[in-house]
Amino acid sequence: MTMYELILKKKRGGALTSEEINWMVREYTNGCIPDYQMSAMLMAVCFQKMNTEETTALTLAMADSGDRMDLSSIKGIKVDKHSTGGVGDKTSLVLAPLVASLGIPVAKMSGRGLGHTGGTIDKLESISGFRTSLSEEEFLKNVADIHIAIAGQTKNLAPADKKLYALRDVTGTVDNLSLIASSIMSKKLASGADAIVLDVKAGDGAFMKTPGEAKALARMMIQIGEKAGKAMTAVISDMNQPLGNAVGNALELEEVIATLKGHGPEDLTELVFTLGACMLLSAKAADSMEDAEKKLQDALFSGKAYGKFLEFVKAQGGNTDQVEDPCLLPQASLRMEVYADREGFVTGIHTEEIGRICLLLGGGRAVKEDPIDPAVGIVLHRKIGDFVKKGDSIATICANDKTKCQAAGDRLKAAYEYGDRSLEERKIVYEVIH
Ligand code: URA
Repeated sequence: MTMYELILKKKRGGALTSEEINWMVREYTNGCIPDYQMSAMLMAVCFQKMNTEETTALTLAMADSGDRMDLSSIKGIKVDKHSTGGVGDKTSLVLAPLVASLGIPVAKMSGRGLGHTGGTIDKLESISGFRTSLSEEEFLKNVADIHIAIAGQTKNLAPADKKLYALRDVTGTVDNLSLIASSIMSKKLASGADAIVLDVKAGDGAFMKTPGEAKALARMMIQIGEKAGKAMTAVISDMNQPLGNAVGNALELEEVIATLKGHGPEDLTELVFTLGACMLLSAKAADSMEDAEKKLQDALFSGKAYGKFLEFVKAQGGNTDQVEDPCLLPQASLRMEVYADREGFVTGIHTEEIGRICLLLGGGRAVKEDPIDPAVGIVLHRKIGDFVKKGDSIATICANDKTKCQAAGDRLKAAYEYGDRSLEERKIVYEVIH
């Protein structure tokens, strides 16, 4: 078997066998298949797709490419959550401490930015000293002691996904159902939680552009998870505008902190409550969605969740002064307002473009080795349904480079659409699939 033959087979629309997929994943993880051949395979998959059997085989091969974590030493039902990726998606950073503050163990493996979307690990690294790389012992100890740990993939947990994730990020091969499903589910299976809650995003800023595509992705992941004995739930949520107002690593952390103090944006808070309620139900810590939401609201508005966030940051070596005073987080040297050039209601925001503008400013990677600038990004002042007058500020660009700042401002202006009538209020949660 050679990679060259497998690339041709997929390019011509053939289905790869489990044996071929196992071989390809093993050889790529070992470094015997180079990135350029794997890039060609990923692109062929994007054009020709994979069937359910291939997707399942790819997931299992990736999950078994390294160790599987054993969480059995931690008491209780361990619940994990994962998002398919969006713009301004800082949900996990509010949700994980909120759920943990109710005594439910949250052992979360998170990712870095992918394509035009941000990643939890990059956001956490805006806090000085914060360690996203934990040994398995430390990860387990933190979950046992304080009910929460969030870490990047340890070196040997689904290492095939770790390599493929970084490659897909820079080769335009993220937005494929089978590649997303296998990436997410391989990590979730390897990280050992009993129950998994998925936030499957649909819309312009998501990899799945329609609710129908998002539902198909959700069903595929639920099928793979249930086959592996996991309790699965998926929430289909809207990504036709950024979640909350902040896009960019440190800016998003600032919004996370505000949300944990009970004054976050409505869409983010509502999504957190829905996902949190699903996590509580999966952990058998509530009788109904209503009961769960009440518990979550009490924990958020009493300050318990914020206290847990501080405890979590401290346990992973982060500087809690920056949490207590977010002005101490990395700050951009330039701030530029972007003004509306007409009057009307905001009827659309090109959300993927907002993610790309953040990348242009330095908030994400263009090639694998790129460093990230945590301070840059965008703060939106107007969202869909809002009325603007000509000359109102619709957003602030935070940048460290004048030319990029100007280009970002022009692109941001063009990313807004206006109309003479307000649209119906948008739902943030489309559907919950158990
Ligand atoms: N999150 C992942 O971990 N992988 C993907 O492919 C998309 C989102």
